[in-house]
Amino acid sequence: MLNIALPKGRLGEKVYKLFSAAGYEFPGMLDNNRKLVFENHELQMRCFWVKPFDVPVYVERGTADIGAAGKDILLERSPEVYELMDLKAGACKMAVAAKNNFHDDPEKILRVATEFPNIAQNYFASSGREIDIITLRGSLELAPVLGLSDVIVDIVETGTTLRENNLSVINFIADLSARLIANKSAYKFKGDIINEIIRKLKES
Ligand code: PRP
Repeated sequence: MLNIALPKGRLGEKVYKLFSAAGYEFPGMLDNNRKLVFENHELQMRCFWVKPFDVPVYVERGTADIGAAGKDILLERSPEVYELMDLKAGACKMAVAAKNNFHDDPEKILRVATEFPNIAQNYFASSGREIDIITLRGSLELAPVLGLSDVIVDIVETGTTLRENNLSVINFIADLSARLIANKSAYKFKGDIINEIIRKLKES
């Protein structure tokens, strides 16, 4: 049995459609229910919905042989897994953004609100900027608007959320999209089937 972890939510649904188009179908996965685990006995595969941030944990520990995770989560968690393929779903960017009229004062510690403290830390460490990280769980745009932070490190897709809150991008940090990841020993022992999945995903 090959175990596959997909991120529950919009991105996971896009990725599931890629799997389904490649011939890997798990009936009921897109139904409006609370079920989390779906089996396809013919394929000898099991697919399950996992909170997006947790996909690398399931794959790193081998509960899932493969999974799909956003590059943002991989950069943040740096899991010991193989990143095998860019699934191209959910393309967006990690960026630093601030109020439209923001001017950085290098004399002051920069207050950075983010859901991705490691990405923010690494990014500002590379430029030697001293920062104070404020970790939040979503709706980050509020932080600079209300004065909780100077900047945010967040995901930008269309840019609408920034625009509608009078914020703009100062710098881009990374290109993001869903990636196919594999457990290292699973890739060793189940490499044939994993490579076949990759081939079919690329063909479809
Ligand atoms: C993400 C991200 C931005 C928004 C960017 O939030 O954190 O807020 O999408 O998209 P845009 O550039 O197309 O406007 P999400 O909707 O996932 O919710 P969250 O704020 O709760 O994380």
